[in-house]
Amino acid sequence: MINLSLSQNAEKILKTHNPFRKCFFTFRTIDKWEKKHISLIGKSFCIETPCRLNKPIILPPKLMPRRRGLNKINARIALIHSLAHIELNAIDLAWDIIARYNHYNLPLKFYDDWMGVAKDEAIHFLMLSKRLQDMGANYGDLDAHDGLWDAAKKTKKSLIDRLAIVPMYFEARGLDVSPHMIEKLSKANDHKSVKCLTRIYNDEINHVKIGEFWFRWVCKKNKKNPEKTWQKTINKFFKTEIELPRNNKAREKANMSVYLSYIS
Ligand SMILES: [Fe+2]
Ligand SMILES: [Fe+2]
Repeated sequence: MINLSLSQNAEKILKTHNPFRKCFFTFRTIDKWEKKHISLIGKSFCIETPCRLNKPIILPPKLMPRRRGLNKINARIALIHSLAHIELNAIDLAWDIIARYNHYNLPLKFYDDWMGVAKDEAIHFLMLSKRLQDMGANYGDLDAHDGLWDAAKKTKKSLIDRLAIVPMYFEARGLDVSPHMIEKLSKANDHKSVKCLTRIYNDEINHVKIGEFWFRWVCKKNKKNPEKTWQKTINKFFKTEIELPRNNKAREKANMSVYLSYIS
């Protein structure tokens, strides 16, 4: 049996259409990596968009229906469905960062860290899919948008851009809005969803922290000031200020507080 390299395994996962098989291959690859059955050697590759089943239908973000009032089950299903879709994208993003930038001569810890993230994201996706089933729905029943993957495409040429935008902007924005969602679900007495979102929230603090660690590492290698480089990258991509509310407590735990002082 031919053993695939880490990049080849990542490519295989990105090209897997079925999200549940994507999770299965994620766990299996990490297990093989931990047993040292996978080599790091292998060239990086480019896949423009990860493979998906034909459901959910992907709409532009502005065409997505607005969600109101989480006291209704349909609104809660819509919320959990959209979060499951984000988690599926997050699995692919973790494998993409592992495979795409392997010409940067990164230390082994980089790969260990992002495989840890991939594993968490797969657990998050499976947890939310199960929660949808409990509520009488399935992943793929509703439409979704790929805003997160659009950011991946825009940052594919630079590891600095990728880290600044994906974990340090989008995932950090997730930390800002999560406590409010958890509170609303709690008020709706949806304790199972509260449990899922609380687990995800705590794991995501660590993902942002990992993103910040490697961003700082790459900046140091390139003799760049991390805070100024982050601000410049954010301005280049968004041309807007970071929206409120900001979750300063979670951002502090993720080592992101220092960056906010650079935002006017
Ligand atoms: Fe996640
Ligand atoms: Fe994450």
